[in-house]
Amino acid sequence: MTDFDKVYTRRNTNSVKWDTINQTYNEENLLPMWVADMDFKVNEPVLKALKETIDHGILGYIETPNSLYDAIQNWQKRHHNYSIEKEAILFNSGVVPSISLAIQAYTSVGDAVMIHDPVYPPFATVVQKNRRKLIRTTLIEENGHFVMNYDEIERLIRSESVKLFVLCNPHNPGGRVWHQTELEMLGNLCAKYNVIVVSDEIHQDLIFSPNVFTTFANAHPTFKDFSITLTAATKTFNLAGIKNSMVFIENPDLREKFSSVQQINQQHEINTFGYIGTEAAYVHGDQWLDDLLKYLTKNITLVSKFLASELPNVKMMKPEGTYLIWLDFSTFNLTDQQIQNRLIHEGKVVLNPGISFGPAGTQHMRLNVACSKEVLVDGLNRIKRAFQDFA
Ligand SMILES: Cc1ncc(COP(=O)(O)O)c(C=O)c1O
Repeated sequence: MTDFDKVYTRRNTNSVKWDTINQTYNEENLLPMWVADMDFKVNEPVLKALKETIDHGILGYIETPNSLYDAIQNWQKRHHNYSIEKEAILFNSGVVPSISLAIQAYTSVGDAVMIHDPVYPPFATVVQKNRRKLIRTTLIEENGHFVMNYDEIERLIRSESVKLFVLCNPHNPGGRVWHQTELEMLGNLCAKYNVIVVSDEIHQDLIFSPNVFTTFANAHPTFKDFSITLTAATKTFNLAGIKNSMVFIENPDLREKFSSVQQINQQHEINTFGYIGTEAAYVHGDQWLDDLLKYLTKNITLVSKFLASELPNVKMMKPEGTYLIWLDFSTFNLTDQQIQNRLIHEGKVVLNPGISFGPAGTQHMRLNVACSKEVLVDGLNRIKRAFQDFA
């Protein structure tokens, strides 16, 4: 069983989260609480499957095993009540590359693509790098969590002739697990104006009870006709480095278009360890995921209590899913750069600047709590130190 309390050394492993920050910020002894990977050791059966592959000693080309399709179909049915046919499952090296392929498959240069503001930064990057017009619709904060602005979405879809919506479901950085009714409202608008929905569901397994995750394609019987689903085992099981993700496309026409762009770019051959790790995680991961969610729930409660007693001016958005917490520093009346400088140079702690998630992220920071309690407490004390003169 994984000991989530155990602190592992990740320095000097070429970890993006741990090993790039000193140079980026020109500062020593920084504690990373940013990039969305976890400081927990991977589930033992996954490591065993990877080791067996190494021990066999030959790493030639491999085909996609049928047992992997079974594992994915069973996981989707068991955890998300989503029945997906084998023929509708494609693979790619990552969810972000698949967003890019979808943009290329379903839109042309100059077309408008809509995303939420704030949202996971690569959404905007990929839209812009593909030379599509980026349209942001701002999420509204209501009763401590984000809700969508349907009036604005409809207005922008019409005025900008939006062709595609990249949805983050559940939402990073706000931790919203969109309700089926919310997805229905968004989907009805997209259907009305022929907008294709690319639903990034990489955080779909990281859901805190009693919240219930709904796959966009499953939110209404017709939504599978104009949407594609991107997901992976890599976020849930801390396997980001093995580079494997899935694309579920039920509409044969949309599947053909996606597949064709993938073939043009010769991106359809997947890393062996991606296949092996994904299958082992989905076959053996139920208990590990249960344990992880319990641990993360405790960490989130710890943050909430700490902020209430030690840093009451920093407001947190309580996540319904994901291990990411959206923190609001606006009461300090500091600029984004001032907030960042304090965290880096006084607190010596690295969070993701909210402004990188879009203009609506100003004066916010995203905190990653997928670490041991000991590291989390250290991180929170560092954040407190950065703002101690405001106490
Ligand atoms: C919403 C979201 N999508 C995609 C990714 C990255 O996916 P991949 O590594 O498969 O490209 C992340 C990682 O943090 C994420 O939060």
